[in-house]
This record gives sequence, C-alpha cells and structure tokens, in this order.
Amino acid sequence: MVRSLGTESAPTYNKAATNAHGSFGDHDVVWLEAPVASRFPGRLDEMSKQRLLIIGTSGFLGTYAVQSSAERFDVIRGDRSSSNQPGTVQLDVADSSSVNRAFRQVQPNYVLLLAAMSDIDRCEAAPELAFATNARGAEHVANACARANARLLFTSTAAVFDGKKHGYREEAEVSPLSVYGSSKAWAENAVRSLLPSAIVLRFALVLGFAGKSGTNAMLDTVVQKWKAGQPVSFPTRETRNPVDADSLSKIMIGMLANDQVSGLYHVGATDSISRFELGKRLAARAGFSSDLVRPLNATAPGRAPRGEDHFLLTDKIRKVWNLGVQTSDQVIERCFS
Ligand SMILES: NC(=O)c1ccc[n+]([C@@H]2O[C@H](COP(=O)([O-])OP(=O)(O)OC[C@H]3O[C@@H](n4cnc5c(N)ncnc54)[C@H](OP(=O)(O)O)[C@@H]3O)[C@@H](O)[C@H]2O)c1
Repeated sequence: MVRSLGTESAPTYNKAATNAHGSFGDHDVVWLEAPVASRFPGRLDEMSKQRLLIIGTSGFLGTYAVQSSAERFDVIRGDRSSSNQPGTVQLDVADSSSVNRAFRQVQPNYVLLLAAMSDIDRCEAAPELAFATNARGAEHVANACARANARLLFTSTAAVFDGKKHGYREEAEVSPLSVYGSSKAWAENAVRSLLPSAIVLRFALVLGFAGKSGTNAMLDTVVQKWKAGQPVSFPTRETRNPVDADSLSKIMIGMLANDQVSGLYHVGATDSISRFELGKRLAARAGFSSDLVRPLNATAPGRAPRGEDHFLLTDKIRKVWNLGVQTSDQVIERCFS
C-alpha cells in the first residue's frame, strides 16, 4: 500500500499485491509481436553482440552508461519519450504493458534499470507516483526480465538506510526515512524475490556532469550558478561516500556482463565527506571562490528527510572487483578529467 511509504519500518514485498497489479499472468505471455528489426542496429538474429536494454538513458547516469556499454553490447535505449530513432524503444516503467511490449520488441539479454523518480523532494510530495515509478516500475521490469531470461542490474540508493550510524554493510537492515528510500527498498525486495540472479547496486551520491538540463546531475546546476556568481548552500550535517558517474557506469556494465555476479553490492569512495566540504572541494577544483559555498545547517522547508551519515561500506565489491574508485578526492578529480 502506498500509505505504508515513508514509515521507518522496513518495507516488505507483497507477492499477492504484485499479481493484483498486472504483472504477467500465465496467459499474458504471448510473444506475438515480432521484433521491429529495422529500428535496431542490424537484424536481431544477425547481431554479433548481446543486446543490452538500458532503461532511462535520457537521465544523468544513462548518458554515461550508453557510452560505457557501446563497445561490449548492442545497446538499445529505452525511454519514456519516443524518438523513433534506430536503437531506441519507447517504454514507461510504471506501465507494465508498455514494459512488456518493449521487451517483446527488443528481446534483451541484459537490462540496466536506471529509470526512476530520483528527485527525493518530488517523491515526498508525490508518493503515489514515486511508488508507481520506483517500486512497481522495478517490479514490472524484473518480471519482464524473468520471462525473457535477461540479466538485470537495478540501481538503488543509500537512502534505504536512516543514516543514524556510520557505515552500512549490504546485509544491514533497511530503515528508510523518505518516500524515495522506501520505494527503493520495496523495489530491491521485489527485484531480488522475482529474479535471484539480479544485481542490486546501491550508491550514496553520484558526481559528474550530464552536460544537459533536467537530469539529476548536481554538478551541472551548481557550476552554472557559480558561473553566474550565485552562492550555493550545501548541508553541513549530511555525509556521503560519492562515486563518479564514469567509473560507476563502467562498474555497472562490467558487473552485468559477468554472469557469475548476482546479489546486493555497495559502491562508493573509501571515505565519506560532508556535502559542505564536498562543495568547497568542488568549487576549488572548478576554479571558483569558496565564498560561493555556503553552509546549510537547518532542514530547509519542503526538503524531504535525509539520513545524515550515508557511508556505504564497499569491502564486498572490492574483494571481487578492481573498482578503480578510491578516495572522495579521486572521485572529484575524475569528474573534471
Ligand atoms: N544520481 C545520484 O546521485 C543517485 C544516487 C543514488 C541512486 N541513484 C539511482 O540511480 C539511477 C539513475 O539516476 P540518475 O541520477 O541518472 O537520475 P535522472 O537523471 O533523474 O534520470 C532518471 C531517468 O529515469 C527516467 N524515468 C523517470 N520515470 C520514468 C518512467 N516512468 N518510465 C521510464 N523512464 C522514466 C527519466 O526519463 P525522463 O527524461 O523521461 O524523465 C530519466 O531518463 C536511479 O535509479 C536513481 O535512483 C542515483
């Protein structure tokens, strides 16, 4: 129930509710619609590489993920807005029939799910939409992957935790404070129940430039303001271990391509940093005065609750993966190099 969102208890995945919300029943799975071969790069049966469907390519991480995967995969971009371009497919994750139609057309081997309502404050203001997109949307995609026998990587967040302690391992109990965190925690549960082979990757804060407006890339907005001489306020009490978008997208594609990898992982820098300190270091690196970085101490009105200390421990992924991501300073440097 949407009403359960925003509570501090761990959301549970309700399979009965799943069936009531239009996931595949036995009779729904009729793969009648032929793949629209002309819209994809080469005929599907002649493609040399495996097909990767990236859902949410118009956003911040999508921009990087498309670039990082082009060499290894035949990439199909799945987005809400229809472009009718080759290598694209239209889908709205909140609409199971649209997801199923896209899967019938594309027949992906691999799926990277980036699509989400990622604005935490917007989620708080519109919990039903947030739940439909982030929770049910992930469920629809996981169901479709299970039917298509496709590998899935689902992108989640440190906001599944309340941030009241320093350092969270993958197995720590979830304790979201916000609608966004609750919807993602519910989605994680659904994805893992429906598709045990799926990878669920959590991260706390992604840094980088999307180079376009309307995405979740904080640096685009901040640098634009600094260029105009406007100060930007950064919370002093929120600490995060960031990761840069380029490294993250390469990690996601590498994990997805390795059929041995499944389950829950955390990724991020080895140290955490307050958002205020991060703002100061970003300004310095971008060549702006520290006067343009202001401390934000109080909770701003209309701001969704956020955990204070979101430090995701990354020992698990580091044991099996050469991350290349080390300190927060190195993450910052990568954004500008
Ligand atoms: N950036 C971070 O710091 C951060 C941290 C933790 C986790 N994450 C997670 O990482 C993933 C990617 O985030 P991002 O930063 O790239 O976010 P973003 O810039 O906001 O991009 C979100 C993407 O989702 C698409 N989308 C939204 N609703 C959709 C729907 N109903 N159907 C299909 N597509 C839909 C958007 O398409 P439109 O252009 O049509 O809106 C956009 O392409 C998300 O799962 C997010 O929760 C991000």
